[in-house]
Amino acid sequence: MKLATLYLGLRLRTPLVASAAPDNADLDHLRKLEDAGIGAVVLPSLFQEQIEAQQHDYEALLAAHADNSPEAQTYLPPIETGPYGLGLERHLDLVRRAKASLSVPVIASLNGSSATGWTGFAALLQEAGADALELNLYDVPVDLSVSGQDLEQRYLMVLSAVRETVRIPVAVKMSPYFSAIGHMATRFVEAGADGLVLFNRYLQPDIDLVRLSLSSELELSTPSEIRLPLLWTALLAGRVKASLAASTGVEDSDEVVKYVLAGADVVMTTAAILRHGPAYVKTLLTDLATWLEIRQLESLDRIRGQMSWARAQQNESFIRANYLHLLKTFARAHHG
Ligand SMILES: Cc1cc2nc3c(=O)[nH]c(=O)nc-3n(C[C@H](O)[C@H](O)[C@H](O)COP(=O)(O)O)c2cc1C
Repeated sequence: MKLATLYLGLRLRTPLVASAAPDNADLDHLRKLEDAGIGAVVLPSLFQEQIEAQQHDYEALLAAHADNSPEAQTYLPPIETGPYGLGLERHLDLVRRAKASLSVPVIASLNGSSATGWTGFAALLQEAGADALELNLYDVPVDLSVSGQDLEQRYLMVLSAVRETVRIPVAVKMSPYFSAIGHMATRFVEAGADGLVLFNRYLQPDIDLVRLSLSSELELSTPSEIRLPLLWTALLAGRVKASLAASTGVEDSDEVVKYVLAGADVVMTTAAILRHGPAYVKTLLTDLATWLEIRQLESLDRIRGQMSWARAQQNESFIRANYLHLLKTFARAHHG
């Protein structure tokens, strides 16, 4: 069974990619993913905040040394632990070590959204050996005076700045909250994105009614969440000159098959790996191969994009024209 696929110009042996997650900072875990057949791995993000904190600490240290006073000790940077507490050097070291111990492509992730001051660090991730870069423009635009157009312009500036800094392929992990998602996708591609990850999963806090506090506990996705990325994978496949990675909601191989039918070049997963462990990648791939074998299809390419908007005769089910019909059918079924 031929499961090989091309993503960001990189040849992957399978279409399954481990999206950015804390466990991916552990070499042992990464090797297990590789043993189970993963096509590529995305390392946990290097966050703009990490870079800025380090720059801030560095400046504070310099100031402290200049004073040469006993209070200087208090300026020493706090020691954080865990994958998101790595300083820049240790993060770069992770990229180097991951690259040295894996044969599948290693994708580094840079996460931030403001226009300046941090995008240059993309070059360090490239130098450390990353095969590609994923740019996560995670941003919740709370400032009511900033227009969508201004925000979009800023995101494009960030991408252009990163693009100018590195030679390796760059993918943008996109927000699903643009008025014109397709147009924005096109602009990202025009600004140099080699691939689009559909989508970034925004964490939305809940309210704890007992403690009367915000609870922002991280809940893992469920398959019901594939509908939005599935729709946009199908709408964009074959219509943008970029690789498409479908992300969110994979629990078993059904979701993987659906995403590929919609036109995804690769399918990403974090939740399934967190729930079932890295060896589960093998189950997903075996079940994917079985699905194809039963239908006597010898390669994934036979189904990729078969249900995309471009290939499925611009099927009405994708868009509003079908909405009224659906509502009427629902109303008839429930109210006679
Ligand atoms: C614990 C945890 C940590 C994550 N860390 C990152 C990160 O560092 N960078 C990033 O771009 N996405 C991060 N994500 C998001 C995942 O990469 C992925 O987009 C999201 O979990 C949706 O995919 P899934 O439905 O397969 O879990 C994280 C997700 C989880 C659950």
